[in-house]
Amino acid sequence: MPDSAARHSAARHDVPAAPPFGPVLHHRAHGMAPGDAISPPLVHASAFHLPGAGPDGAPAEPAAQGGFQYARWGTPTWAALEAALGVLEDADVAVVPSGMAAIAAALLPVLRPGDRALLPADGYGATRALAAEHLVPAGVHVDFVSTPGLADADLSAYDLVFVETPSNPGLRVADIADVAARAHANGRRDGKGALVVVDNTSLTPLGQRPLDLGADVVVASDTKALNGHSDALGGHVASRDPELMARVRGWRTLAGGILGTHEAWLIHRGLETLEVRFARMCASALAVAELATGHPAVRAVAYPGLPDHPDAAIVARQMTAAGGVVGLEFADAAAAERFIGDAAYVVAQTSFGGTHTAAERRARWGDDVPAGFVRLSVGVEPTAELLADLARAMDAAAEPA
Ligand SMILES: Cc1ncc(COP(=O)(O)O)c(C=O)c1O
Repeated sequence: MPDSAARHSAARHDVPAAPPFGPVLHHRAHGMAPGDAISPPLVHASAFHLPGAGPDGAPAEPAAQGGFQYARWGTPTWAALEAALGVLEDADVAVVPSGMAAIAAALLPVLRPGDRALLPADGYGATRALAAEHLVPAGVHVDFVSTPGLADADLSAYDLVFVETPSNPGLRVADIADVAARAHANGRRDGKGALVVVDNTSLTPLGQRPLDLGADVVVASDTKALNGHSDALGGHVASRDPELMARVRGWRTLAGGILGTHEAWLIHRGLETLEVRFARMCASALAVAELATGHPAVRAVAYPGLPDHPDAAIVARQMTAAGGVVGLEFADAAAAERFIGDAAYVVAQTSFGGTHTAAERRARWGDDVPAGFVRLSVGVEPTAELLADLARAMDAAAEPA
């Protein structure tokens, strides 16, 4: 048995349970005074009343002024979103303007010239581009490994290991607990081992708990399922390491890439229905994956919730839900486009995690997938209606052009 198979043959921990969602919905209730608005304040101010000076001539402590001074440091609307996300992550959270801003905030202020980072070869392409265009020229040595290849990768040479699981778009799954244990035991950073950063975009904390599995930092695009309404870009960084979060916040303030107030408010509102949306998406995605399995139009189905998924053993000990994204491989690009064009309930678009079912051929962006590979993002339509529509579109895709 290879080393990795032996490591993976026995569960070493219980799957960290999804947190109760009620406290996310009620996080504001305890601090409310009679007459307060139930929804969080949508505060458009760029600056906050800040009279007086501190003992050394600096402005008075913002905490003494209600916590706000200038909106690049923070706003009441961010504070509401960070508090809700903090409950969901059970960690300190910094909100940022996109998933890429979250990834940049976790990498750029942390890595220094001479450091070594290991990134996914098969994950979201912009993460690789960020490394190639900004880390490598800054003197950081960057290596790439596929998500399945992580199991046997030697992590001892690294200061930082970045994991995206399930990977986008191939939906392969890395064992976070195993990677974190090996990275911490062997990595280079200050005798503490390598820092482990997990991109938890596709599952959200309801489907997977990287920090409970041993990761140091979570990054996420809240543009996807977490907000879920295709109306705002956003992201967040979460960690239980105060020193690291101070660096992330410092980076956010000085780089100046901050989340807009309106976006923060929209994401807070989207988050309130995450639990019900995510349950529907995951249930429908499994039903779609089962429908596609064995359908004559579909050559291969990738879905972490299927029992024959290549990483099913890791899924079982790490994930509490398999997510709303399904990979479907059709015979060729034309058959894939027929499927997308024929389905009444499929919006042709990029991105995933929205309320409407959506799809695109990922090869059009240069992802290393077959031309007929479709990333299907399952929405919240009634499951039976969606299945009927997709079955019809799959039949159409099976017809000769
Ligand atoms: C896994 C993953 N991480 C990060 C991002 C970047 O998110 P954003 O578009 O919000 O910057 C994406 C976008 O598709 C993604 O799929």
